[in-house]
Amino acid sequence: MTSNTSVRAGEDLLNASLQKVEALLTATYTDHPLESHVNAMCMHVISAGGKRMRPRLVLLSALALPNFNADNDLDNICHIAAAIELLHTATLVHDDVIDKAPLRRGQPTLNETDGNHAAVLAGDYLFTRCFDLLQKPHNFDIITELSRTLRQLVVGELYQLEHEGDVNLSLDTYYETIYHKTGVLFELAAASPAITLEQYYDFIAPLKEFGRKLGIAFQIKDDMLDYTADSSILGKDAGTDLNDQRITLPVLMALRHLEHSDPQGKEQLLQAVKDAQLEPVLQAIAATNALEECEKQAQQACDEAIASLAVLPPSEFKEALISLCHKALQRQN
Ligand code: IPE
Ligand code: IPE
Ligand code: MG
Ligand code: MG
Repeated sequence: MTSNTSVRAGEDLLNASLQKVEALLTATYTDHPLESHVNAMCMHVISAGGKRMRPRLVLLSALALPNFNADNDLDNICHIAAAIELLHTATLVHDDVIDKAPLRRGQPTLNETDGNHAAVLAGDYLFTRCFDLLQKPHNFDIITELSRTLRQLVVGELYQLEHEGDVNLSLDTYYETIYHKTGVLFELAAASPAITLEQYYDFIAPLKEFGRKLGIAFQIKDDMLDYTADSSILGKDAGTDLNDQRITLPVLMALRHLEHSDPQGKEQLLQAVKDAQLEPVLQAIAATNALEECEKQAQQACDEAIASLAVLPPSEFKEALISLCHKALQRQN
């Protein structure tokens, strides 16, 4: 077999697995009439798309393991990938209620179409579907880790809430927050194949490190896009973080820069942040090159993620994991 044909076979395997994950995501488990409305609400969010970063990460992290036995294990891994995507989807549905967001994945949010109460319940329903999917792998360790991840996500969101409007937020607190609200799920996604397959236990720690760093880079980029992106491309409203008084890296970097160079400018920026005035905040971000600094920090997290893949043997799947890191930074939505 030439290396080109083996790469194609690898791509085919990945694409077939992604399709399987899609089928699991959109499968209806019941035709109980009482559940038809909530199923339709969930389907509205699931079929609106999304980048499917986390399931891709699960699949690639499995396929990149040395001598991974796709015939035996890929089906279970697809179930875990779908379960993690549903957990992510549930957190998005709840996040949109909390953020009062009108748009997600280019579609009106459930809080917009059905109201907050129904949206919260649809999010809860998605959690149950996530747990349903985990019955197939029948693995206690992944359930334990998933529960721990969910706990950390909740703690991260609460931590963020506590710091709303806190313009004195330290860089450490920012990083702690984004690790808890985003890094933990990437960590679980990347390590989940090694967690479920005993012979790969030694890979758990480096793959967790990979996921953690990739997740941090991903959230930094999300925080940058919130200031720079066009809502129609982003598929969700930009400018939400400032409106919600969430202090993120672009503002932190601008404040840090002004602290030394222009203390009066810093005071003006603080006031603009408090008043949620997007224009002057954007100007300060541009004038201080804050986005370049964010880019640098995201790139560093990405480089560290890639470095932790050194434990994996060379393969097209390892290369795909590396390019996932690059895509996380180059993305426009
Ligand atoms: C959005 O995640 C929430 C963050 C962690 C920033 P994604 O950007 O992966 O959302 P979808 O799944 O593609 O819609
Ligand atoms: C992601 O953070 C929060 C979750 C863990 C769901 P954001 O609040 O920045 O996500 P978006 O920007 O609404 O997608
Ligand atoms: Mg949000
Ligand atoms: Mg965001």
